[in-house]
Amino acid sequence: MTGLFITLEGGDGTGKSTQSALIGDWYTEQGREVVFTREPGGTDLGTELREIVLHSRGHIAPRAEALLYAADRAHHIATVVRPALERGAVVIQDRYLDSSVAYQGAGRVLDPDEVRGVSMWATEGLVPDVTVVLDLDPAIGRDRLDAANKQFDRLEAEALEFHTRVRDSYLAMAAVEPQRFLVVDATLDRDAIRDAIIARLSELS
Ligand code: TYD
Repeated sequence: MTGLFITLEGGDGTGKSTQSALIGDWYTEQGREVVFTREPGGTDLGTELREIVLHSRGHIAPRAEALLYAADRAHHIATVVRPALERGAVVIQDRYLDSSVAYQGAGRVLDPDEVRGVSMWATEGLVPDVTVVLDLDPAIGRDRLDAANKQFDRLEAEALEFHTRVRDSYLAMAAVEPQRFLVVDATLDRDAIRDAIIARLSELS
């Protein structure tokens, strides 16, 4: 595959979409095809699954939740991401398998290796070239969402301890795989975050 697969991760309210757009501009200026996408919900099927997993009212058992995200991911990677990478595009994706490890693994307390294993099976082992973690104290993220008057989805509505486990899980994953992960302090201003990410992306061919 000749494309580049870049994923953005982090808690809610960390500015992933703003940074996706800025990274996309940088690649577009270089004449690259850029595909923006996200999980859950990057396909028609994914939009339906997203509705269930984020907005369904009743309780969803943790393993069922993990499988719903994995189903979304399997279809999305097979029908959108792999074809784009094969064309040579730069795929900039809001959340990927590390979200499952952090939210369903550390957050819901399933075995993180098993959760990762399910996603690896779902995607036939597709690993991003670079994963940017926008790191933020969950209490600050929460304030940002409040300020934006955003309605909380099922995951966002979880307690701060849940989001602290999610954050710690990202940092632990980044420490184990420093060649793939870039952790950026999400309290920095927009341009400083962008520059840190671009510096890393410039090292890729
Ligand atoms: P979303 O509204 O897409 O955006 P944001 O990234 O701005 O929060 O949120 C998706 C939610 O789904 C988010 O709370 C994290 C959660 N999630 C998981 O729990 N597991 C996953 O595998 C993925 C992709 C997302």
